[in-house]
Amino acid sequence: MNRCRNTGIEHKKPAFSPESLQRLRNEVDAFLDTQIEKFNATVPYAQHFEKDAEIHQGYYRRHLIETAYRIRLLRIAESKALAEIAKLTPEGAQIWANYETEEMIHDEMFIADLRRALGCTREEALEEALKVEPYLSTKLLAGFFSYLLDHEGPLGVVAYSYLVEYVNVKLDPKKIAGLRKSMGRDKIKGQIAHNHTDENDDHPGEVWQVICHLLRDDADIDALYRYLDEHQRVLVLFFEEMYQDQIAAKAKAA
Ligand SMILES: [Fe+2]
Repeated sequence: MNRCRNTGIEHKKPAFSPESLQRLRNEVDAFLDTQIEKFNATVPYAQHFEKDAEIHQGYYRRHLIETAYRIRLLRIAESKALAEIAKLTPEGAQIWANYETEEMIHDEMFIADLRRALGCTREEALEEALKVEPYLSTKLLAGFFSYLLDHEGPLGVVAYSYLVEYVNVKLDPKKIAGLRKSMGRDKIKGQIAHNHTDENDDHPGEVWQVICHLLRDDADIDALYRYLDEHQRVLVLFFEEMYQDQIAAKAKAA
């Protein structure tokens, strides 16, 4: 008996046909579109950067800090995900590694925009960012990733990246157009560069390829939808927390 497991050698190709995977992607994207609509309709300040002529500076700066934190915290769990994906599908792991190579230190782009917003040095912007801990919703997301890797497998972690990349490519151009008017182009160069990588390197497409390699049966497809729903709920917690902290609590104190 051969005791060796987790070589991924038996899964060279996706289990589903290219046509059915394309159909699935269209359905998943439509599902994400309904999640976005609900998000915009129910979460306070959901379209603040996109629509408002005047930006709330505290909210804007905290959003930059938290985005940097989220990239910093999640890249640790996402690195662990690489090993888990490699056990199942070396081809999927190769694509994931490539995606992470591009994404790994993107927190610097948001710190650069924080520096521009504050008109200070990078060191001072970092100091400013480190004055606050990540939000509880960010800590819970990092914890959720660890839970997924320990108990359910890497699909849930990869599903999060698909959700975020899909939403970024779809909504960031509108957000950037809004911020360009309210903040000025020079102040948001980091976010513009981040959006260019997502679009030009086809990040949603790359992450989708990893998902294709991970899906082995219909139960995995059900799980994918559940992950997308769960991640959206945790994302809502983040935006609500930021609104409470920066807008509601400060309005009450004033
Ligand atoms: Fe990206």
